[in-house]
Amino acid sequence: MRVLVTGGAGYIGSHTVLTLLEQGHDVEVVDNLVNGKAEAVRRVGELAGRDVPLHEVDLTDADATDAVLARGFDAVIHFAALKAVGESTQKPLEYYANNMGSTFTLMDAMRRHDCRTIVFSSSATVYGAKAPVPYVEDYEPLDSSSTYGQTKVMTERILTDVAAADPAWRVALLRYFNPVGAHPSGRIGEDPQGIPNNLVPFIAQVAVGRRDRLSVFGGDYPTADGTAERDYIHVQDVAEGHVVALDAIVGGDAGVRVWNLGSGQGTSVLEMIHAFERASGREIPYEVVDRRPGDLPAFWADPTKAEQELGWRTSRTVDDMCRDTWTWQSQNPQGYDA
Ligand code: UFG
Repeated sequence: MRVLVTGGAGYIGSHTVLTLLEQGHDVEVVDNLVNGKAEAVRRVGELAGRDVPLHEVDLTDADATDAVLARGFDAVIHFAALKAVGESTQKPLEYYANNMGSTFTLMDAMRRHDCRTIVFSSSATVYGAKAPVPYVEDYEPLDSSSTYGQTKVMTERILTDVAAADPAWRVALLRYFNPVGAHPSGRIGEDPQGIPNNLVPFIAQVAVGRRDRLSVFGGDYPTADGTAERDYIHVQDVAEGHVVALDAIVGGDAGVRVWNLGSGQGTSVLEMIHAFERASGREIPYEVVDRRPGDLPAFWADPTKAEQELGWRTSRTVDDMCRDTWTWQSQNPQGYDA
């Protein structure tokens, strides 16, 4: 298949592009390079043994987006979005304008060029604070405490309405839990801008000496060790989930399908610190500080639906995630900019 990957120069996008290429698909990337790096796409091409066309285009630019879609694609995997949870709440207009606007432009151009198959990068955050754990796909109403999360809720709704109006659309909504890790080669990985917001990239930068110590946000949660629990999932498992989901919507009925991509297991912040210490052989100094506003105590996926319908389940462990993150971080201490 000819697949266009939006945000393919970013963290999850770049790993998914590589997996698509390895499965024989023909892939092009569109990315505005605000978070993504051209070097990531170049390295994906190196790993796959073929060049990957990169279109440096902002999806809110309708004419430029139309020109990319005019190249002809069978399907789109849509990762491109602003993604910093804390920043989104400070800059709601920018987040709504970018994340919703780019989706409108993209879908309009897809429709014009007769491409109506899309896999959307959603998030476990759409379940909101009231959903019972583990999260199941048919839970309603969807809600999220951050503006970032609301852009995911709204985009899911828009895709659902579009598919209801035109039965030619095939849509997969993939709700990922906490993707971490890197390709085992250490050539591609997560390269956050500035101070990392997320746990594992922060731990990795402490281990490599870029940061002094980790702040553990909250030690008084109602969990076994008092720190918050999340469902961490290896980015390679996430990437493979996209490819099987794409195959399923292409080979199955039209309409909207939704799947969780998670392991079904919670891991606490302290457990993750200790796993990373084992993987890296480095001590991770940390201090427990106040809870981070908006954080939930503990959640994980019910992964049954993806397993039954896609034959997909996670195959990599937390130790694998830490080992591969460490390979990437130790080989690329400054990320792609080194
Ligand atoms: N944490 C720390 N210290 C840090 C960073 C994080 O203790 O420096 C803790 C958090 O408080 C949380 C856990 O580590 O308990 C995981 O935090 P992350 O920021 O790595 O991940 P979140 O679960 O907060 O966020 C993730 C995704 C978001 C998504 C959200 C909800 O990054 O895109 O899950 O599904 F919106």
